[in-house]
Amino acid sequence: MLPRPTSVQLSAENFALGAGAHVAFDDGLDSVAAWLRDAISLPLPPGEGGLRLTIDQNQPLEGYALSTAPDGVVIAGGSPAGVFYGAQTLRQLLFDGDGGRLPVGRVVDAPRFRMRGVMLDVARHFMPVPDVLRFIDLAAFHKLNHLHLHLTDDQGWRIEVPGWERLTEVGARRSATMLGARVHDRYDDRPHEGFYTTDDLRRIVAYAAERFVTVIPEVDMPGHMQAAIAAYPALGNGWSGPVRTSWGISTHVLNMSDQTLSFCRDVLAHVCSIFPAELIGIGGDECPADEWVGSPDLARLGLDGPSAVQPWFTGQMAAFLGSLGRRVFGWDELLTRGAPPTAVLAAWRGRRPTVVAAKAGFDVISCPDISCYLDYRQSDDPGEPTPVGTLLTLADVYAFDPVPHGLTESEAAHILGGQANVWTEHMESPRRVDYMTYPRLCAFAEAVWSTPDRDFPAFLDRLKPHLRHLDALGVNYRPLSGPRPGDARPAAPGNPRTLPDRLAELHEMTADLRR
Ligand code: ACM
Repeated sequence: MLPRPTSVQLSAENFALGAGAHVAFDDGLDSVAAWLRDAISLPLPPGEGGLRLTIDQNQPLEGYALSTAPDGVVIAGGSPAGVFYGAQTLRQLLFDGDGGRLPVGRVVDAPRFRMRGVMLDVARHFMPVPDVLRFIDLAAFHKLNHLHLHLTDDQGWRIEVPGWERLTEVGARRSATMLGARVHDRYDDRPHEGFYTTDDLRRIVAYAAERFVTVIPEVDMPGHMQAAIAAYPALGNGWSGPVRTSWGISTHVLNMSDQTLSFCRDVLAHVCSIFPAELIGIGGDECPADEWVGSPDLARLGLDGPSAVQPWFTGQMAAFLGSLGRRVFGWDELLTRGAPPTAVLAAWRGRRPTVVAAKAGFDVISCPDISCYLDYRQSDDPGEPTPVGTLLTLADVYAFDPVPHGLTESEAAHILGGQANVWTEHMESPRRVDYMTYPRLCAFAEAVWSTPDRDFPAFLDRLKPHLRHLDALGVNYRPLSGPRPGDARPAAPGNPRTLPDRLAELHEMTADLRR
């Protein structure tokens, strides 16, 4: 089973959960029962004799005990989410058993972390709604419970906002896409476009909620905003131009006028009307201050130079989100750029920001690039598609621990969990997303769900039958033996990095945290 449960006691004796089985369930578990019928393709009419889904207050909130015996299968969860995870485990057991047979025994299980997330970048490459729903299904299958949707960036704006139609008329379309790493300066000549309507996003939120996945939206600001500024040049600092076609970071950022602040509040209010999550992402990463040099906003707002702009802006957005009862979710740059004490920070610039944020008393989601960035290359094989970043093998992801060494118990308690990040510059299709995401997300899921002891060979033994399950679900995962001939993407060449080079770069990038 994967992720590895806390305790598994299964015997060689087995039985069939037949087509005549019924399901009995406590109040509030009807949607879990409905999900399970679909997932295991059994009619499971309501009634006694077969399966029982029940709430047991003695179980941890997301934990469960699954007991299997010929006279009945019982899933007792600490909450509906716990029952759902027990049902996911039952689904795996049924798949692994021959002809739908179940072993007799008991599985007791609960997650190590309460935030087990995956980020999907739908800005660099738009992903149609049905593929997003499938992405959520697969995340929930691995007992992940958060989907961070990166909805906007320099290269595309993907959320319809009433009153700001040009965001999607102009900002959701770029004229061409860079092929491969930036150093090659190579492009296709094809427009890329797409955006989600309000109804699309509501559908995604509802579908995720049925699978106990909370969707955390992110609108990156005040940098990574070139697509919005292409649509409304008045949001910027005198620049006008197209949605960015190259990768990398745009210097075109928001100005701090009342109108621009009002735009940001409109967008966030709309986002909050769609997404019930407590955490609302405002990004805040990689925001160059070049355009704020000499800006009239400085004197008007009494700001002490360009580096004071982002902290001030973050404060404004945090106050607004607070007034709507929400909490700021942002990248770890906010540590020195105005994070309010209630912010939850996604610590990505290597391992140091997780430590610094936790020591400073911030709640943290640990996602160091060198362990959790699934756009980074999976092997040194020249057949890997667009190899970028440092080498991040399945074993490397499996070894990830969201809690770094050197924290006290109370500091470590600020680490809410971990997140794997699927940046899609080099993932031009859902099939490519599958290839880069799986099976590494299986290893990640174990790192955030299971107890911290690790045994990679034992993980591989469990992964092999699990891959057959992914085959049945149509997942285009990377084979353990390496890329297939058709997986290479020679038209989109990469730029592999070494770990020492990247660590040196991260040291520079996080100089702000040592001052
Ligand atoms: C990031 O990778 N810019 C968060």
